[in-house]
Amino acid sequence: MLRRLHPDQPESFAFTSENRAWAEAQMTKYPEGRQASAVIAILWRAQEQEGWLSRPAIEEVARMLDMAVIRVLEVATFYFMFQLQPVGKRAHVQVCGTTSCMICGAEDLVAICKEKIAPRPYQISEDGQFSWEEVECLGACSNAPMVQIGKDYYEDLTAESFSGLLDKFAAGEVPRPGSQIGRFASEPREGRTALAGDEDNDFNASVTLANDLGDTIKRIDGTEVPLVTPWNETGHSKGAAVPEPVTDDLLGPKGGIDEPTPGPKPADDRPIDETGIAKQEAAVDNKARPDEADVAPEGGDAAPSDDAEAGEAPETSTPPPGEGRENAKKSGSPLQDKAKSDSDKS
Ligand code: FES
Repeated sequence: MLRRLHPDQPESFAFTSENRAWAEAQMTKYPEGRQASAVIAILWRAQEQEGWLSRPAIEEVARMLDMAVIRVLEVATFYFMFQLQPVGKRAHVQVCGTTSCMICGAEDLVAICKEKIAPRPYQISEDGQFSWEEVECLGACSNAPMVQIGKDYYEDLTAESFSGLLDKFAAGEVPRPGSQIGRFASEPREGRTALAGDEDNDFNASVTLANDLGDTIKRIDGTEVPLVTPWNETGHSKGAAVPEPVTDDLLGPKGGIDEPTPGPKPADDRPIDETGIAKQEAAVDNKARPDEADVAPEGGDAAPSDDAEAGEAPETSTPPPGEGRENAKKSGSPLQDKAKSDSDKS
């Protein structure tokens, strides 16, 4: 599927001060010159703030990370989790349309989306509150069919229960996520057949946390996630030597995107050959393959030498590793040597 930026773009994008602080903290996770590694986390934050990724948001992330805009655009257009068009203000519904869900009734859920939200995926409902799309497997196949709404999963759905969920969201409620038929996790519908007895909790940890937070469809503004950067506090004590910055080979010598790339660099103690780079081959000591000179010819053992016929022990020598093949080329095979010796005698 071709993914392009939406034709209607906002004038600008700016992180909230909390989200900017969060994004800058993410950048400190990586060594100097490797801030680009934070690109997915920061793009995701921009999307959580706005609901989708606009061109100005992508440009702002590129500016923060000192990356070419095209490189950030490549990431944003590659991953389907990034929405490149506006979505419903209240919720964007992702209906799983992969095998298990499709067999178990995903088409009924899509029909509800078409009826209650909009006829086409990515089309925003008339009141601007909802949008929907069909997505690939979301990993809750045993509880199919399911949808993801905002940050949470709603599983074991029917057309009726899904329709009821949408009504609750429209009324401003946040329904309880997880299985909608009361399954704790992914045990059989009739009940657990193993690990029974641990039934003190009504809901699994994921559902419990979602219930406690109640932020299923809340836009992230930075206030709900603690801005902890433990790697900054525990990394180096004051006055300790700061490690050398690491520079990405694909970036310039100073790590800037405008610097020329350094190119290949030979090792100090190797002369540069005619290709402009030192030949740096490791010496081969191949024990897996015997030297050809040591291999008996087809049809039996190597023919005995004259010395052996005379009862004297043959003189043996083991060539240094890697020289056997060269020696074999020079002297030929044992059979060839024997034939040559016979013809010399005659
Ligand atoms: S097939 Fe729908 S979650 Fe896997």
